[in-house]
Amino acid sequence: MRRAIVRGTGHYLPERVVENSWFEDKLDTSDEWIRARTGIERRHFAAEGQRTSDLGILAARAALDKAGLAARDIDAVIVATSTPDLTFPSVATMVQAGLGMTRGFAYDLQAVCAGFVFALANADAMIRAGLAERVLVIGAETFSRIMDWTDRGTCVLFGDGAGAVVLEAAEGAAGTSQDRGILATDLNSDGQYRDLLYVDGGVASTGTAGYLRMQGNLVFRHAVEKLADTAHRALDKAGIAPEQVDWLVPHQANLRIIEATAKRMHLPMQKVVLTVADHGNTSAASIPLALSVADAQGRFKPGDLLVVEAIGGGLAWGSAVLRW
Ligand code: UT7
Repeated sequence: MRRAIVRGTGHYLPERVVENSWFEDKLDTSDEWIRARTGIERRHFAAEGQRTSDLGILAARAALDKAGLAARDIDAVIVATSTPDLTFPSVATMVQAGLGMTRGFAYDLQAVCAGFVFALANADAMIRAGLAERVLVIGAETFSRIMDWTDRGTCVLFGDGAGAVVLEAAEGAAGTSQDRGILATDLNSDGQYRDLLYVDGGVASTGTAGYLRMQGNLVFRHAVEKLADTAHRALDKAGIAPEQVDWLVPHQANLRIIEATAKRMHLPMQKVVLTVADHGNTSAASIPLALSVADAQGRFKPGDLLVVEAIGGGLAWGSAVLRW
């Protein structure tokens, strides 16, 4: 059985770090409120002129280095993003050019905060179908560019960054859940929830990029319910019991959502990778950032079983089960 295994991870965070206290003299908010309600302490913001593709290229290079591979070894690049440099061409083709890669193919995928999980499922399907041997899967975002800085309910939550994973085809020895690599994925969306989380601009509507709008407490409720559901479905598909999970690597939107999901999955918080305090919500970049940070810390051992899950605008949500 052909499997997509993780060969390397990498990430990039912009230099500028903004602490919660930065917002205190601009808005009616406090470090205390932000920490208590979200778990966020600081976030990174891209420099003026620094684009999503710049972040993606640096994360991709780091992942290639870690994998011991060159750009010419890659067949496809998928960038999950909702904050592209331009309407077109794709950020992925800009990353491709930035890496000096002149063969293969590259495209963007947009499923907002769930984008990386969708891209991972896409890459897994392409690898198993024989369309590609090695795929760079990147989540890269500059959400600071779509913040309404007068809306305290959203602008304190998001940050910029990029994470990347190199997936590679490998023959699974057992053809069972003991194999390394992606074992199952579960994708969902429901467009009737459009108004809970959206950007109020776009090419075919306003002709502007727009600003992020969110009914946070309603998204919160959907997140708590849907994230554990999708994780359980992916585990079922993989034939794995929840207690066999070594690491939950969740979308980093809100510590309270992460804790509620872990509880529903009966996982202790020691098994949960947390980066939300330092990164805030980086949308599609949050899971590959968390994977790369934890990998760099040597936390994942070969054979460990990981679950990744995310939800965001659409609503769109999903999960993947993989063995390290
Ligand atoms: O990545 C995509 C998925 N997105 C998410 O997962 C985000 C999900 N939602 C959340 O994380 C939370 O809903 C928030 C952090 C956005 C808000 O927390 P909450 O506990 O749901 O608060 P709330 O929206 O119910 O608001 C409670 C109060 C309100 O005041 P009143 O109406 O009770 O007087 C808000 O106006 O908190 C107020 N508030 C703030 N106060 C201080 C909202 N934002 C702030 C703020 N500082 N930054």
